[in-house]
Amino acid sequence: MSENLFPVPAEWSSGTSMTKNRRAADHARSLDDGEGYWLEQARRLDWVTPPSRANESSFAEGDFGIKWFADGVLNVSANCIDRHLATRADDVAIIWEPDDPSETPRIFTYRELHENVCRFANVLKGAGAKKGDRVTVYMPMIPEAAFALLACARIGAIHSVVFGGFSPEALAGRITDCDSNIVITADEGRRGGKKVPLKTNVDEALKHCNSVRKVIVVKATGGAIAMEPGRDLWLDEETAKVSSECPAEPMSAEDPLFILYTSGSTGKPKGVLHTTGGYLLWASLTHELCFDYRPGDVYWCAADIGWVTGHSYIVYGPLANGATTLMYEGLPNWPTPSRIWQVAERHKAHTVFTAPTVLRALMKEGDDFVTSVDRSSIRLLGTVGEPINPEAWRWYHSVVGEGRCPIIDTWWQTETGAAMIAPMPGATDLKPGSATLPMPGVEPQIVDGDGKILDGACEGNLVIARSWPGQMRTVYGDHDRFFQTYFSTFPGKYTTGDGARRDADGYYWITGRVDDVINVSGHRMGTAEVESALVLHETVAEAAVVGMPHDIKGQGIYAYVTLNANEEPSEELRKALIKWVRTEIGPIATPDVVQFAPGLPKTRSGKIMRRILRKIAEGEVSPQALGDTSTLADPSVVDNLVANRVG
Ligand code: WT7
Repeated sequence: MSENLFPVPAEWSSGTSMTKNRRAADHARSLDDGEGYWLEQARRLDWVTPPSRANESSFAEGDFGIKWFADGVLNVSANCIDRHLATRADDVAIIWEPDDPSETPRIFTYRELHENVCRFANVLKGAGAKKGDRVTVYMPMIPEAAFALLACARIGAIHSVVFGGFSPEALAGRITDCDSNIVITADEGRRGGKKVPLKTNVDEALKHCNSVRKVIVVKATGGAIAMEPGRDLWLDEETAKVSSECPAEPMSAEDPLFILYTSGSTGKPKGVLHTTGGYLLWASLTHELCFDYRPGDVYWCAADIGWVTGHSYIVYGPLANGATTLMYEGLPNWPTPSRIWQVAERHKAHTVFTAPTVLRALMKEGDDFVTSVDRSSIRLLGTVGEPINPEAWRWYHSVVGEGRCPIIDTWWQTETGAAMIAPMPGATDLKPGSATLPMPGVEPQIVDGDGKILDGACEGNLVIARSWPGQMRTVYGDHDRFFQTYFSTFPGKYTTGDGARRDADGYYWITGRVDDVINVSGHRMGTAEVESALVLHETVAEAAVVGMPHDIKGQGIYAYVTLNANEEPSEELRKALIKWVRTEIGPIATPDVVQFAPGLPKTRSGKIMRRILRKIAEGEVSPQALGDTSTLADPSVVDNLVANRVG
């Protein structure tokens, strides 16, 4: 059933130049003549100095390094704004929809975007920001968040966006890791009618950081906050004092554009670093290929700017392509489960791009919330962030899209910059649950545990065999960690951390992470991060965290906690631990289950056998499911875990 084929709808097969044959031919050429293909593609950007070379990357340990278009010079903000002014200054660049539907949307043309970004850039300069400085952005989903990113890009400062749902502790860690000297925030954020105390969180975080000299504060709600004289500046006051023109700094293609922290299987979050030329080219090209943007369309990616999806598909990709991009402040299901479709209706959105977890949550509310809203403007539906189950895919396709809209299931990662495996609306027959085929220049392979390349229909570890322009360049401040994490498991290849199946038609089906990373509502979470937060609690001796199946979130967080010898398990303590993790990391890390465990299953060398913990969390507790436990130091701990399983 799940392998049913949905052919390209008639309205998409005509009128697009990207056909099935062209897609295949482009892909073949991009691999056979990479230099030629990419130097040609580079012309989609506006260069101060066009590059003479494309790919100069190597995944090999000896001369490891990722480099694209290295002798090219350009500016990202000029590419996203200035170059459109001659022909489309009065076209809408950004439409902003507020959290509260009774409030008025804000609209910015490219000319207005230019003025706002120039002024913001001059404010940053006034605050002492220089090329190469790290600027932390901790913002709600308001237009000023996009201005902030583009303003940093304009002056060559490196932005590091921290999701507004992260705690002061998590924010402090990310500020310190990249030694930021400026923070951009707002007084408060709003989501689903609730206020988020962003500025207060920044104040709290800065008690633990000494690198920050200035905090630029956007007045978003007007709520009362503290301002520290000499350190904190109101954006609106500063903006009024500066020029509306700011020259765009010429940047080398390999100068850093941004850092974005993401979770790995071990240790603290990694600062994924992306650079200027390759990243922008990749975001812009894939935005065009996946969403077939045409002038006049209103394109909506319903992500948050705190994640890479917001960077590449709300800001950089669409604006580089001169598109109208819709930014939404709130939640998909507030005030009612119709809201997401009402936002699309209000702004006549052509594309809606969201996450499977959102679809599963809305599906449960019943079809009326969808069908009661006019969806005739919608022509394309996108998904990202986690594998989409065929049931949600079919609902999205038939109920939301009335069977007429292609579902663009984009597989990629913070590390890959933008989409790697995805359909193109006019060129790809769809299969529910499959991200389909690789983008140009992407050479996926499936390898077994020993790194042997598997052919034809097969299942194994998904790796990418060569570099592509939007690939991350390093882990900020830790180049060796970059190599070790991604290039040492299967030498000469980029390891994605995902498992995948390839079918007889060459379609890819992502099966999920194969490492200790879990995917909660499309958000990536390192089990080690949650464990570190738990063991910081005074009652906890040891913790082990695994993913568990969850109807809406995809995966939930299941934590096994061993208390200190003098502590007694109680319902109260369970709640306190859950709350503790929320405050340490943020609400997205809230454990769904805490099970008190007098002992964890360990090998004689002390390694926790997570395989067993995962099985118990999944409710698979038969001896066959649990497998061989004879290598455990104390096999009886498993009986206790099974007997006290929660759920
Ligand atoms: C991980 C990356 C992609 C931007 C948002 C998340 C999973 C992502 C899909 C998809 C199956 C997917 C993978 C990947 N993932 N998109 N379409 N189908 N799985 O970025 O936080 O870096 O997470 O999300 O497991 O490795 P991220």
